[in-house]
Amino acid sequence: MEEKKEAKIQSIGVLTSGGDAPGMNAAIRSVVRTGNFYGLRVYGIHKGYQGLLRGEMEILNNRSVSETLQRGGTLLQTARSKEFMTEEGMQKAISMARVFGVEAVVVIGGDGSYKGALDLAHRGLPVIGMPGTIDNDIGCTEYTIGYDTAMNTAMQAIDKLRDTASSHERCSVIELMGRGAGYIALNVGMACGAEIVLIPEQETDFDRDVLKALLEARNRGKKHFIVIVAEGKGDAMEIAARIEASTGIEARATILGHIQRGGSPTVRDRVLASLMGVRAVEAVVQGRVNRIVSIQGGQVVDLDIEEAMKMKKEITPEQLRAASILSM
Ligand code: F6P
Repeated sequence: MEEKKEAKIQSIGVLTSGGDAPGMNAAIRSVVRTGNFYGLRVYGIHKGYQGLLRGEMEILNNRSVSETLQRGGTLLQTARSKEFMTEEGMQKAISMARVFGVEAVVVIGGDGSYKGALDLAHRGLPVIGMPGTIDNDIGCTEYTIGYDTAMNTAMQAIDKLRDTASSHERCSVIELMGRGAGYIALNVGMACGAEIVLIPEQETDFDRDVLKALLEARNRGKKHFIVIVAEGKGDAMEIAARIEASTGIEARATILGHIQRGGSPTVRDRVLASLMGVRAVEAVVQGRVNRIVSIQGGQVVDLDIEEAMKMKKEITPEQLRAASILSM
């Protein structure tokens, strides 16, 4: 979309929207500190777009964000606002930005949050998006803030589940988050040596790929099993019940749930969130707005928001092949 070329922006807002993700605080801190470095006034907007339309914001300085880097969650809190999705809600958001003199907003969130950002841009409020979601399901970026921490949390939990599955000679079926995408499940499956990984991006013949595969492994002498299912692919309870009923192998289901969204961010999440925050503010300072900050080829870049939102990414056949070679 066309970039806005007007007087230099002196005041920005930052908000987190949609599901929280570890590393969002590192991103907020980076936006605040980089903004302050360049002499901008930075408003922290509470509870996402809901807070914007209600005018819930305060000026943040370098000290306001100290001791936040290592904390999970988001110090600004987040929300999925229904009111903002209405024309009236968006107009309220625009007029609140005007009331506080906020001239551009940095939105940290997933692709639903980017849609909201684009709506604001179309109504004249410049925006910069930053990818924050554990799901890693944003087309324009190789990496999203929170993904690495969520995978590490899941990996640690599954290592523990393997201990008990082994003691009881059971099949542990674990459901992982990811919304419609299987990035977390596929990579955690590889990191944990899961016997079977079920993801939405890959077709499954349950009899052949799950039941027969487990029975053949049992007949070869295998005594316990880890089956990972992405939430977008199926229900762990149902899968465990089917496995037990059809194979006689005792099965237990664990839905890891929101534990994957919490915890202290990993080095990778902290560093990438920090670098992307610098890029977001520098884009504004250099007069580039209505952009999405992304990771491409391992580098931090910023892309036109409309172009970025059309981009798609997929789990590659190479990744699927490697996962299948390494499982049963
Ligand atoms: O997008 C992050 C995510 O945790 C998804 O993996 C999951 O499907 C969804 O959010 C859960 O949303 P909520 O926190 O609203 O239950």
